[in-house]
Amino acid sequence: GLGLFDPVRRNSRGYDLGEPGVPEALVAAIGAARRGDLVAAPIVGGASRKGKAEAVRNPATGAVVGQVIEADAATVADAVAAARKAHDNWSLAGGAFRAERLERAADLLEEQDALFLGLAIDEAGKTLVDAVAEVREAVDFLRYYAGQARADFTYPVALPGPTGERNELMLEGKGVFVCISPWNFPLAIFLGQVSAALAAGNAVLAKPAEQTPLIAHAAVELLLEAGIPGDVLHYLPGRGETVGAALTSHDDIIGVAFTGSTEVARMINRSLAGRDGPIATLIAETGGANAMIVDSTALPEQVARDAAASAFQSAGQRCSALRLLCVQEDVAGTMIEMVAGAMAELNVGDPSILATDVGPIIDEEARANIAAYVAEARAAGRVIAEAQRTDLPTGGYFVPPALIRLDHVTDLKREIFGPVLHVATWKGGELDALIDAINASGYGLTLGVHTRIDGVAAHIAARAAVGNVYVNRNQIGAIVGSQPFGGRGLSGTGPKAGGPHYLHRFAEEKSISTDI
Ligand code: NAD
Ligand code: ALA
Repeated sequence: GLGLFDPVRRNSRGYDLGEPGVPEALVAAIGAARRGDLVAAPIVGGASRKGKAEAVRNPATGAVVGQVIEADAATVADAVAAARKAHDNWSLAGGAFRAERLERAADLLEEQDALFLGLAIDEAGKTLVDAVAEVREAVDFLRYYAGQARADFTYPVALPGPTGERNELMLEGKGVFVCISPWNFPLAIFLGQVSAALAAGNAVLAKPAEQTPLIAHAAVELLLEAGIPGDVLHYLPGRGETVGAALTSHDDIIGVAFTGSTEVARMINRSLAGRDGPIATLIAETGGANAMIVDSTALPEQVARDAAASAFQSAGQRCSALRLLCVQEDVAGTMIEMVAGAMAELNVGDPSILATDVGPIIDEEARANIAAYVAEARAAGRVIAEAQRTDLPTGGYFVPPALIRLDHVTDLKREIFGPVLHVATWKGGELDALIDAINASGYGLTLGVHTRIDGVAAHIAARAAVGNVYVNRNQIGAIVGSQPFGGRGLSGTGPKAGGPHYLHRFAEEKSISTDI
């Protein structure tokens, strides 16, 4: 089966931060697990490589969190060669063998979560709430893909045929897979890609984002501790233009799992197509220009809460984040006022304390780009409201949430990866034109819908060209196994992460027919 329903698997419990005493205990544990000696050095064949170290900084304070050493060309070449040799045995070991190790990694991650929570906060600028969700999702990916490896990659499936013939279909690893991840889910997406590639029986070359090598390094150490062989998994930190480009142009790789910008996905696609090696698989999960459609029957309080959470949680640095709120004209005044009110209540600042809702932007370049975009809108008289910033830590990169008016939904031309929400109105009777205009952006990741009419929600869900539709709730934070996540068009190739078909894209199928 496709593991659509596995009665044994449970998502990680995580933490209930609303429970008295829990946040305090967690903050203390995170403090105790903080280390001053972290070095994200390349790991090839289970051994660390030396090189020139560069500082990794905390986006909220500018403080040094640890060091990173970029993988050089020789290190990349050694890793590819070792992975190539290791792949066959890893694939032949079978799904149950691999699942056991990934499940051990999930258990270890839960046991050692304080280190990872601290790194999500210190290195990626995650709030405590987001950090907890990040570690939980990473644990869920490990267990989900392990379960599928056990179910689908251990024994061949028997297929019908004439009497006297045995027909079987089996799945095996493809070869050497490259995993390239973004900084905004530096543990969950990093481990999600890597664990899926491993679960399906591939050897893996893992390249984390430049901004977040430390948490990824700790994750690779954890996988090795859990029994993933050192020649099967290699850790190659470095810049996209150097390490990333070297990996995706290599003739000996068979596939790339990429999550990041649409622009880089296109570059990787071209790079793969230009090689002499085997025709490679590209699994790309990219950006979005996500809308929320609100009709006149929607509950204003619910819209305000869900729009603010979808647009501003994680400082808007989620591919799933709401970018464009489309409100039916006759209720626009109240709705926009309430969304602005919800936005005004958000605390922007130090991500390590529970009271903070909106943490920093990942780096100065990103901060400057978002701030310039908001400044331009302000000059054009389009900024409806901006949240206040108070008591911000010094040395960090912050942009207060902003609400920007558009004349038409089609005026949003690209993804602004920060806490900026655009608002446009639509007239009753023009719902289909609105959905078509949203679809025309070419992106197709998430869509929020707020309506009290079931038929309207169903109609929108059917007509929208997106991967994930969320009705009368927020549109972020997909849950592994419940809300398989991923888009289409400019937003990605599929299959959906945390869904029943993901692992199969990392696999080869083999049919065996025997005369008996
Ligand atoms: P990015 O595309 O700049 O970088 C992503 C990764 O690609 C990094 O590891 C980077 O080093 C690498 N890279 C860059 N150039 C490369 C090249 N030439 N060859 C190979 N690798 C290269 O994206 P980012 O800024 O890290 O992340 C933000 C983007 O990711 C946003 O667009 C966001 O929407 C998207 N995202 C999508 C999803 C999803 O599931 N659809 C999830 C999270 C983030
Ligand atoms: N999977 C992440 C979310 O749903 C990106 O927000």
